[in-house]
Amino acid sequence: MLSENTKQIVKATAPILQEKGVEITTRMYARMAEEQPELKALFANTRDGQAERLASAVLAYSQNIDNLDALQASVTAIAIKHVGAEVKPEHYPLVGELLLAAMKDVLGDALDEKTITAWAEAYTFLANVFIDKEKELYKA
Ligand code: HEM
Repeated sequence: MLSENTKQIVKATAPILQEKGVEITTRMYARMAEEQPELKALFANTRDGQAERLASAVLAYSQNIDNLDALQASVTAIAIKHVGAEVKPEHYPLVGELLLAAMKDVLGDALDEKTITAWAEAYTFLANVFIDKEKELYKA
């Protein structure tokens, strides 16, 4: 479970994600291409606008972190895409590192240590939600 403190910190980042989210996810995919080309290869057949779609999912997560039920339909839809692209549990920590690094690149000093820690926890929590959902889908 995420602590109330973590939820509050993540929720408080929504305005900055609204403003800079696409810049962050664009930076993340650029890092991915350079540092984890085998992950970037999974996006070979993805249509344009992936940075926007990821940014909007991250924003929705920060806004609804205290009401995850609101995200269920979109989690399922994304998990179906992930399974189609053969996303695996071991990919999640790698993507988490890239996303946090991209946040630091774009937000710099606006991102303090406690916010980085809260986002790292919140990412791991969401990753596990996807991993569980995708496990079900792979089995089915
Ligand atoms: C918590 C972490 C993640 C979030 C919030 C997330 C979010 C998303 C979103 C919003 C989409 C677009 C779905 C759509 O087209 O409607 C997507 C697609 C995709 N994601 Fe993720 N994702 C996450 C983790 C990962 C990981 C770890 C990988 C592994 C490399 C990955 C690979 C992909 C790929 C390849 C697609 C494109 C699928 C397609 O075009 O059919 N994602 N993801």
